[in-house]
Amino acid sequence: MKFGFFDDGRKEYVITNPQTPYPWINYLGNEDFFSLISNTAGGYSFYLDAKFRRITRYRYNNVPIDSGGRYFYIKDGDTIWSPGWKPCKTPLDKYECRHGLNYTSITGEKDGVSVNVLFFVPLKTWAEVQKLTIINNSGQTKKLKLFSFLEWCLWNAATDMENFQRNFSTGEVEIEGSTIYHKTEYKERRNHYAFYSVNVPITGYDTDRESFFGLYNGFDEPKVVAEGKAGMSEAHGWSPIASHYLEVELKPGESRDLIFILGYVENKDEEKWESKNIINKTKARETMARFNTVAKVNEAFDDLKKYWENLLGIYNVKSADEKLDRIVNIWNQYQCMITFCFSRSASYFESGIGRGMGFRDSNQDLLGFVHQIPERARERIIDIASTQFQDGGCYHQYQPLTKRGNNDIGGGFNDDPLWLIVGTISYIKETGDMGILDEMVPFDNDMSVAKSLFDHLTVSFDHVLNNLGPHKLPLIGRADWNDCLNLNCFSNDPNESFQTTENKTEDSKAESLMIAGLFVVSGREYIALCKKLGKSAETARAQKHVDMMVDAIKKHGWDGEWFIRAYDYYGKKVGSKENEEGKIFIESNGWCSMAGIGKEEGMVEKALNSVKKYLDCDHGIVLNNPAFTRYYIEYGEISSYPAGYKENAGVFCHNNPWIIIAETVIGRGDEAWEYYRKICPSYLEDRSELHKTEPYVYSQMIAGKDAWRPGEAKNSWLSGTAAWTFYTVSQYILGIKPQFDGLEISPCIPANWKQFKVTRKFRGATYVIAVENPMGVNTGIKSVSLNDKELSGKLLPLCAHGTVNKVKVIMG
Ligand code: BGC
Repeated sequence: MKFGFFDDGRKEYVITNPQTPYPWINYLGNEDFFSLISNTAGGYSFYLDAKFRRITRYRYNNVPIDSGGRYFYIKDGDTIWSPGWKPCKTPLDKYECRHGLNYTSITGEKDGVSVNVLFFVPLKTWAEVQKLTIINNSGQTKKLKLFSFLEWCLWNAATDMENFQRNFSTGEVEIEGSTIYHKTEYKERRNHYAFYSVNVPITGYDTDRESFFGLYNGFDEPKVVAEGKAGMSEAHGWSPIASHYLEVELKPGESRDLIFILGYVENKDEEKWESKNIINKTKARETMARFNTVAKVNEAFDDLKKYWENLLGIYNVKSADEKLDRIVNIWNQYQCMITFCFSRSASYFESGIGRGMGFRDSNQDLLGFVHQIPERARERIIDIASTQFQDGGCYHQYQPLTKRGNNDIGGGFNDDPLWLIVGTISYIKETGDMGILDEMVPFDNDMSVAKSLFDHLTVSFDHVLNNLGPHKLPLIGRADWNDCLNLNCFSNDPNESFQTTENKTEDSKAESLMIAGLFVVSGREYIALCKKLGKSAETARAQKHVDMMVDAIKKHGWDGEWFIRAYDYYGKKVGSKENEEGKIFIESNGWCSMAGIGKEEGMVEKALNSVKKYLDCDHGIVLNNPAFTRYYIEYGEISSYPAGYKENAGVFCHNNPWIIIAETVIGRGDEAWEYYRKICPSYLEDRSELHKTEPYVYSQMIAGKDAWRPGEAKNSWLSGTAAWTFYTVSQYILGIKPQFDGLEISPCIPANWKQFKVTRKFRGATYVIAVENPMGVNTGIKSVSLNDKELSGKLLPLCAHGTVNKVKVIMG
């Protein structure tokens, strides 16, 4: 069953039934000011950091789901309704939510009155603009009462939800004209406030939650709305809110536009006050003035649309399959921007208080983002590398506001350093910017011990070498990519975190084949970079270690039919036929196969056949099999999940692309495609009821074959799946691959594809690449021509800036 449809022309997903199987959300803003918005206008806003600068309050995991947002209440006679259906849930005559690229437009219609609200964060603006249009489509004059509503968060989203003995006494507001200012704690250490305005005079307002709702009412039953007049309340402590009250009279056919702005302001210390205890509103007024007419708002909205047109023009495919085109051209790239901005911090599954920017996560996110705004990718790489330690290890996470490593979580995840090599080299291949390697980058944010970014890559590479175990394979540390495979944790205490606890480390023999495969893949990238830089001694040194790792994997990492996953603390195999459960895992088979280890001897093919046999299911490739059915203290969190969920045999979508790429390594385009399609949301739209999460974005996990409800997805939006699937489809299936010196063409597609076309902007030139497959092959290139001249290989050379170049590729 579907709950809407894709409108590809407008690059929107249109939801036509508000009762989606889960709130289907969107993100507003992509720079500093951000909002999450659901299809019923739930959600919240923050500035830069969802934990430390939360602007509006949200209640996660509430009853009903998705409680709190920016709500409008319309009182038309005795009927009270909301254009987004919630919170009133009054049945609407028409409902439509259009989620677009960084904007959402919600329309509700009731008894001849139509209300549309367009929500977006204009570029370079610290505010969410809400353009509300009311139209009277009925035959009579309508005297409507309109109430806006949002609830302020007392800035720190974590303490806001726990420290009530203090919070209930701190709230402060100011009201001036049609603007409500939230200034809690501005008197002391804060230099920021927020405001909510409307561009016309108001009849009334409320700023105190209890006065607005009544103490025992929910969001669906505001007392003042029922009474039909504002309470004129001024919040002192308790829970400050912002609500405007407007009376709108409309003749038949008449309409009215209103512009609401939710903004955020920071003032310098010496400019904080207008007069004693009266905040300096200059910047707020400037923001309001920028958007006080419909023309100005429309112009800002057009700018946002143009911005996305440009970004999406960088990689564009035209194939025979509209589901593929829409995911590649619109939604997957959009999701990559979102994961770039938020890492794993704020979604409807990530509370915004738990996690900052992940070292490995943010590096991987670059794979899907470097082509969009390389300058921002560059800055991110430097930020991430700045949290590395001198020995190459790194903080697992850092906070976006401070850009400092997060001490509570610390380091010790031994795959982390290698992702810096992966992220940096993907940036260099996209841009050709070798200069980034000379940037002086601190360790642990200490500039006195800064070294070049290249040196950071070297210590990353060496961190693995300095932490080898008894089989000369990488020691796993707290965990590798799989945060839940905690081989040194040994926890019997429910109050301990699996991921930050290592009860046994001395003499640990726990080694990871996933890191080993990743080391070979990223090590080869590092070698190619060293060669390019003419560093012959380093090239030879690195090559020697990569070769040794390949040998170690072949010798100690092969189980006969697949690659084992790890050695545990005691040196016993994990992910082997010898195990009772968890005999085979996806990660090591993905990485060792991507590295082509033992390809000549048939190991890769065997490993991938085993993946197909044991891990594949209708919903994708599960992480391990058989699922763990009891707690294994020597494995940690992975065995804490019920079978089929998350890291215990769920379809953890993030790692499916590793197998897809591996399939392309041995040229199996049909298998690669089949796996790609299985987890791709645009192909799952028809089963939205089961899948539950948005059909326009990837989710982290789809319940696997052993689960209670196989096929049900969770954790949409913020997942490495976004970057990995885009990287995979764009570079390995469609096969347009940035290299240091040009664009390599090597598609690996289903044999029944006749042709496709990719337009790719690369280093200032445009390549229009038409690929034909007359012989129905999966892979292999017969000829490539550039502007009608035959090339000898499959590498397109760099073309002059601003040129549009015609490329013809014949497969065969
Ligand atoms: C984390 C990743 C991790 C993955 C697998 C995600 O929730 O953000 O860093 O690699 O889980 O455990």
